[in-house]
Amino acid sequence: MMQHIFRRGTNEEKPVFLLLHGTGGTEQDLLSLAEIVDPEASVLSVRGNVLENGMPRFFKRLAEGVFDEEDLVFRTKELKDFLAQAAKDYQFDPLNVIAIGYSNGANIAASLLFHYADALKGAILHHPMVPLRDIPMPDLTGIDVWIGAGANDPICPKEESVELQKLLEEAGASVEIHWEHAGHQLTMEEVKAAKAWYEQSL
Ligand code: MLT
Repeated sequence: MMQHIFRRGTNEEKPVFLLLHGTGGTEQDLLSLAEIVDPEASVLSVRGNVLENGMPRFFKRLAEGVFDEEDLVFRTKELKDFLAQAAKDYQFDPLNVIAIGYSNGANIAASLLFHYADALKGAILHHPMVPLRDIPMPDLTGIDVWIGAGANDPICPKEESVELQKLLEEAGASVEIHWEHAGHQLTMEEVKAAKAWYEQSL
């Protein structure tokens, strides 16, 4: 079970946005962002099940930028199972889900892509990292991914954003990377760029 908010959209043809907050966030954080990207879409916004000094996260880490891979794999499956159950409970199409994640939430969304071919139809990843390395990737053909990266992001160096793009593309996904000059923070310019990509690609 994961704490969450589900809001049915006014247009059921539109995707369901799976909203995944950053470290210390809650399921409230990205609701207004989803509203900007597509006000007609449904929303499933989830709170991470891990607490780090009281801050919700989607998986444990050993230090900043150093992930507990065993927990990451476990939590990725937990989120995948939760999605399948939510699709039944709220009667939405499990093949029409687009993740929108920021930071730690973008990392678990990337991990969903690294593990499952059918978890997401697409993903908007704000400031993601490479979630883990050296695992066999599923076939991601037909999946559209947008990466918003900061050229001066102290948490995710430029090379790592490019590496993430390359790994996803090698698995078959179509990936666009968008650069902001800012650091790790999520700016309105970046959200608008994600919206423009969404309207064009999905
Ligand atoms: C993570 O732990 O997922 C990344 O360091 C980003 C964050 O601080 O949330």
